[in-house]
Amino acid sequence: MACQVTLSKAQWDELLSFFELPIGMTSQQATLSRQAVTTLYDRQDLKESYLYVQKPAHRLCLNRYWEDGVLLPFGASRDDFIVTNPADPLKGWSFDKILDLDAGPATNDIYGKLHVHVRQRLRLFREWLQTEPLKFTFSCMDARDLHSNLPEGSFDRIEASNISDDSYIGMRATAKALGPLLRHPNDNPNATLITLFMNAVASVAKQVDGNPGVQLAKIKRASEYLRMTWVLEEHDPELHKVKWAAEFVRPKDAFFDRTMDWR
Ligand SMILES: C[S@@+](CC[C@H](N)C(=O)[O-])C[C@H]1O[C@@H](n2cnc3c(N)ncnc32)[C@H](O)[C@@H]1O
Repeated sequence: MACQVTLSKAQWDELLSFFELPIGMTSQQATLSRQAVTTLYDRQDLKESYLYVQKPAHRLCLNRYWEDGVLLPFGASRDDFIVTNPADPLKGWSFDKILDLDAGPATNDIYGKLHVHVRQRLRLFREWLQTEPLKFTFSCMDARDLHSNLPEGSFDRIEASNISDDSYIGMRATAKALGPLLRHPNDNPNATLITLFMNAVASVAKQVDGNPGVQLAKIKRASEYLRMTWVLEEHDPELHKVKWAAEFVRPKDAFFDRTMDWR
């Protein structure tokens, strides 16, 4: 396996600085600084509404992860782990797959299950690395400049993350910049540009969400899915479930089609 990294001098210097601990920062201070964000002391209402819609056992797991940020089974000792995790790793994997995993008797230990899942994937990846001659090339530049560094028509797949969202460069510029790098259809009719539209639906939906009629329709639809049999009062905590569920069951095709008006 070969690896090549190309960075400007300023980018190298910056990268190295990420590995330096701020002077005087202890692991306890780092943990406190992380907890100031994850435990949302000053956004208690948001935190509790999120916990309310979780299964009780999952609330325990979430609270524990927010406190220590270590991806281990619930009962495992944390003594040897002093480096805090910056982000919630649950968001990077399919939640259903994690829940379905058979990882022993603690069936509700979601971070424990994720720990097992990630270990399995890493082990498979390590084994696979040994069987294929691979070359990784890393560079740090605007995707719109990649064409000057890479040969045209040489890729079977290009994964562009969500730079196709309007908040970044948009679909038109993404296709213009990366399309020519794909292999010609005569060479590979299946050569594909893969993009993610992470904010597209939300940005269009936001334009109509202030309308009370739209809110009512969303709540009605979610209540049907949740099979609510009673009328909710203004402060009924079950409203949190309706609110969170509403986004999941909302029809989104029309919003998405509107963002696709770039052609
Ligand atoms: C929201 S993050 C995506 C996170 C993660 N990869 C995912 O798919 O969930 C979008 C990333 O695209 C990068 N990005 C945005 N515009 C870009 C451009 N013109 N060229 C290269 N990267 C860009 C941003 O710096 C950011 O890291």
